[in-house]
Amino acid sequence: MSKEKFTKKILCIGAGYVGGPTMAMIAARCPQYKVTVVDINEEKIKAWESDELPIFEPGLLEVVKEARGRNLFFSTELENNIKESEIIFVSVNTPTKTFGEGAGKSADLQYWEKCARDIRSAAESDKIIVEKSTLPVKTAIAMERILNENEKGLKFEVVSNPEFLAEGTAVKDLENPDRVLIGSKETESGLNARNEIVEIFANWIPHDRLITSNLMSAELSKLVANSFLAQRISSINSISALCEKVDANVSEVSRAIGKDSRIGNKFLHASVGFGGSCFKKDILNLVYLCETFGLYEVAAYWESIVKMNEYQETRFVQTINKALFNTVTNKRIALFGFAFKANTSDTRESPAFYITKKLMEEKAHVVISDPKAIKNAKVDLKDFNNKIEYEIDPYKAAHHAHAIAIITEWELYKELDYEKIYSNMERPAFIFDGRNILDHQKLFEIGFNVYPIGKPHLIHFNES
Ligand code: NAD
Ligand code: UGA
Repeated sequence: MSKEKFTKKILCIGAGYVGGPTMAMIAARCPQYKVTVVDINEEKIKAWESDELPIFEPGLLEVVKEARGRNLFFSTELENNIKESEIIFVSVNTPTKTFGEGAGKSADLQYWEKCARDIRSAAESDKIIVEKSTLPVKTAIAMERILNENEKGLKFEVVSNPEFLAEGTAVKDLENPDRVLIGSKETESGLNARNEIVEIFANWIPHDRLITSNLMSAELSKLVANSFLAQRISSINSISALCEKVDANVSEVSRAIGKDSRIGNKFLHASVGFGGSCFKKDILNLVYLCETFGLYEVAAYWESIVKMNEYQETRFVQTINKALFNTVTNKRIALFGFAFKANTSDTRESPAFYITKKLMEEKAHVVISDPKAIKNAKVDLKDFNNKIEYEIDPYKAAHHAHAIAIITEWELYKELDYEKIYSNMERPAFIFDGRNILDHQKLFEIGFNVYPIGKPHLIHFNES
């Protein structure tokens, strides 16, 4: 019955931040395909089947609801779903390796390789495997070797289709991407597989945005895209440190350089540091790749981006400590935001984690507020047990606080009544704007001592 109903049967292994939204968009835009998403995590699958999705992403529930039960299905059953599908996207996690050779830099490929072996053992027909996860260059070739070492005479073609969505704007990015990249071998079967994947995205994406390349270029482009984006943030953050020394204003510098169309104005917001599960991981992956080929100068160049990011986080905590008269011990410090960016509940590699850890080491009384990420923050900070306070209401979080630190650029923090907040804080009251989202002059006039990033500090007493 279902055979006649659907023109393609697509499976995705991994129902995370990428697998879930990507497949929901394909299913919503292509009702003629059956799309199934499997995961080993039962709780996650249950959440995908409910109205409480496992991730917070604006607009996602509507897209999921459009297709769920019609041609979008979530499941924990792997074997039969592998058998049934013609195209399998693999979107499992590929974290940085924490052990053995390449620890701290190279990608941990265990989840990835397990998928290849699961597919090989369950498959009963030829299939196209789509590498959706971000992986080191040449992983697709390795996967193809594992898959094609089968005794059933089956033929697998591996295609690379790296994902460029950003969290918080995933639906918009999937609906209207700058480009979709599809890499394949340039053999006849490789090109056929490439065309099958192009056909899926051509259902809603204009042809001029469907870019094709060879396999290695596609894999490398993903690492390079993230590295370039992070490079811009580290570059402007490095300049923010200089701005603070010479009374320049980093926002004015960003605006001035961003007006040059060769530079462009995006990704030039100085911040407390970039976070997220991928920037650091993918840069380190690139670094490891360069080192593997003896390109040590190239590796050091890219690694400096991560080092600059760590410096920016450290600098932020040092500024807090110094401003609070070199002791934060027992002082109540309210962190506004724990997510790595606004509009997501994701806290992976969030600068908030490092900042909290450092403040806890100094025995500060840390209160964490975030509209969506408190659940994840509690998991990340479980080692601190009940020493940290969590308070969703920013007014309550700031009550009797000595300082507020803005970590995430949630819109709601721009709209708070800071006079009211100030009236309930300890004196002198401090605010550290790690995102430069507030009206600093106004805060200063209310009475706050204000410490933006890369701008002159506005303080009511002489700073020595
Ligand atoms: P994630 O951790 O949110 O999701 C991965 C999922 O895979 C998890 O739910 C896990 O349970 C599942 N999984 C692992 N092994 C499995 C197996 N053998 N069978 C079934 N399920 C399995 O990760 P993510 O953020 O979605 O990232 C996935 C990949 O996409 C990574 O390589 C990442 O670098 C890349 N990527 C992520 C983003 C992003 O915004 N998060 C954007 C672009 C690319
Ligand atoms: C990033 C890329 O933008 C995506 O294209 C890519 O697909 C994804 O990584 C991935 O591979 O995982 P994401 O990490 O979700 O997306 O979010 P970004 O908007 O890139 O922000 C990353 C971090 O940089 C955040 O902490 C953000 O606050 C910070 N940032 C961003 C700045 O500090 N300044 C800026 O100007 C821009």
